[in-house]
Amino acid sequence: MYALAIASPTPAPSTLHDLDASFQIRGWHVTRTYVAIRQSEILGFATMSATSITMKDLPKTIRKRLPNYPLPALRLARLAVAASSQGQGIGKQLLKAVFRIAHEVADRTGCVALVVDAKPAAVDFNQRNGFEAFEIISGALGARPTPLPMILPLGSTPRE
Ligand SMILES: CC(C)(COP(=O)(O)OP(=O)(O)OC[C@H]1O[C@@H](n2cnc3c(N)ncnc32)[C@H](O)[C@@H]1OP(=O)(O)O)[C@@H](O)C(=O)NCCC(=O)NCCS
Repeated sequence: MYALAIASPTPAPSTLHDLDASFQIRGWHVTRTYVAIRQSEILGFATMSATSITMKDLPKTIRKRLPNYPLPALRLARLAVAASSQGQGIGKQLLKAVFRIAHEVADRTGCVALVVDAKPAAVDFNQRNGFEAFEIISGALGARPTPLPMILPLGSTPRE
């Protein structure tokens, strides 16, 4: 089994150019994409950007003692693994890399949580990895075609 590397290549390889074009205003650092590479083949990627949330976005259980103004957070804008490489733990490794980066951001400038607009098919995956829905809409998942906003308070994620 060849090792999987997770990196943020600069400049982006050609396969990421379309992605960059849709996300990046070049030079403005709107987002950052990390790719999972095995034997120089890109098997998956995670795109992140800085964002902010307010106290009311947080689950009641962790609201206490947080100031009532916009709080720094990290948005997981995209996470995907090539169809042929799914089910091999690559998505989980990309997510672990995202957690690591979120902790680094928290250490340097502050970050209280990770947020994601989860596709319905990925809600379970995100839940298994610690994310929870911002709002519980009873029985709506199956019939909910739109992404579900989910949040993972950073205090609850392991550093490694
Ligand atoms: C969701 C996605 C990123 C998961 O990547 P992956 O590499 O296939 O996932 P992994 O192999 O790392 O799976 C890790 C664990 O999550 C489980 N899992 C994977 N996809 C899942 C899903 N959609 N729902 C529930 N569980 C899932 C796996 O069974 C595995 O469980 P285990 O640890 O008990 O063995 C991938 O399926 C994908 O790219 N989907 C299409 C794009 C998408 O939906 N992105 C998410 C947008 S929010």
